[in-house]
Amino acid sequence: MSKPVAIVTGAGSGIGEAVATHLYTQKGYKVVVADLNTTTGEKVASTLGPDATFIQTDVSSYRSQAQLFKKAYEWGGGRLDFFHANAGIDDRQSLYDEEDKEELDEDGLLKKLNTKTMEVNLEAVIQGLWLFKYYVRRSKEAGGGKGKFVATSSAAGLYHMPQCPQYTASKYGVIGFCRASGPEFLKENITVNAICPAFIPTNLCPPEILKLWPKEHITPLSTVNKAIDAFLADDKLTGQAVELSQENIYFRKQVEYPNESQKWVGEKSNEIWDVGYQAPPKREGY
Ligand SMILES: NC(=O)c1ccc[n+]([C@@H]2O[C@H](COP(=O)([O-])OP(=O)(O)OC[C@H]3O[C@@H](n4cnc5c(N)ncnc54)[C@H](O)[C@@H]3O)[C@@H](O)[C@H]2O)c1
Repeated sequence: MSKPVAIVTGAGSGIGEAVATHLYTQKGYKVVVADLNTTTGEKVASTLGPDATFIQTDVSSYRSQAQLFKKAYEWGGGRLDFFHANAGIDDRQSLYDEEDKEELDEDGLLKKLNTKTMEVNLEAVIQGLWLFKYYVRRSKEAGGGKGKFVATSSAAGLYHMPQCPQYTASKYGVIGFCRASGPEFLKENITVNAICPAFIPTNLCPPEILKLWPKEHITPLSTVNKAIDAFLADDKLTGQAVELSQENIYFRKQVEYPNESQKWVGEKSNEIWDVGYQAPPKREGY
């Protein structure tokens, strides 16, 4: 039987590199190293060995990510089994920019804030699951048909990071997306989960921070792979946000309901929502 096939985005460095290496060396996967950075991506793939390949990808472009999936599926012999939507960046323009950085366009309108962070950290995750489902459905003949989808959120998706409000919003979004879609995707034999790492020293962090950060508050890369192993071990574990801190992984619950009415809305109203969305109203103009 052919080997299972994994794609890891942002695998040229840090967390993605660690997961790609774990899947390749410990779990018997063929691995596609997907990254924007050709130099680091090619290096990781060639270090792993012949059952790894590098595909240059910009996950913020739907077309680029769709090409990644098609190439990876063909390279893997007609199957895809694991997708880690991991590539991420911090805020590319500060919401708090000083007055002298505010620019107007030719019509005197304030120029749009650069929201690349949302495209890379959240939009690409959503499109990634959309693409993954398509290929998992078409993997049965080659021995696949079961999928593991993992997205990298952050502890900033559970708490917040005032320096990077877009980053925070994107990572909250990833958790909400995985919690909402995870249980539904069991029908597709796909589990959908998010990891929420605490501080792991990688190239994402500004170098000054790496110098200042106390050692006792560092989470090792090995903790990421503990979460990956938990997802691999259980085909029913889905819709989870798993916080990674120091040596431990914590399955985090959503916030508590403030009263019985909200508990009813949260737990019992789905049948009513289902009726509404079976025949969604035609909405004109938007
Ligand atoms: N390091 C931490 O402390 C920490 C904590 C919580 C969450 N995270 C998240 O972990 C993920 C991985 O980050 P990391 O810490 O390993 O950082 P990293 O900078 O070491 O790795 C990120 C990789 O993503 C790639 N990348 C960036 N934009 C891309 C794009 N548009 N398309 C494809 N690849 C792209 C980069 O080239 C890089 O190789 C990110 O989503 C990050 O937000 C990191």
